[in-house]
Amino acid sequence: MELRSVEELMDLLYACRGSWADPGPGKGRVDLHQHALQTAALLRRRRPADKELQVAGLVHAIGPLLRPGDATAHPVSAADAVRGLLGERVGRLVREHHRSAGPVDDDLLCLRQADEEGHSAGFDAGVLEDWRTVLELLAARNSRLGAVD
Ligand SMILES: [Fe+2]
Repeated sequence: MELRSVEELMDLLYACRGSWADPGPGKGRVDLHQHALQTAALLRRRRPADKELQVAGLVHAIGPLLRPGDATAHPVSAADAVRGLLGERVGRLVREHHRSAGPVDDDLLCLRQADEEGHSAGFDAGVLEDWRTVLELLAARNSRLGAVD
């Protein structure tokens, strides 16, 4: 499934409310929606200028909604969904954020660290609406590059 608009992506991120990553409730202390916001907020703190990395953190966890149950396919499903809208780099980061083999660069290390830390109750990471402008910016830039038909 490929997301065609920022609106569709935001609807999916809102739908992450009340869902937990495998193996289910209890693993993390927050749901996937909060986890997405926290991961993105941590990356915004560490790499304030790198919008693509921040957005990769925001969207990395949508896989369980796209392919319920199939945990190994989650990163690939999420990457396929966002690549056309947000570009190759975001797609690559999302696809590889859980992969154990293969080359790991600074971007991936940073994303994985934020992913691990972004599960805390009591961490105010703002609201999804805060990210709309950034998502629209990346989508517009990506469509000008001709990556979306
Ligand atoms: Fe995650």
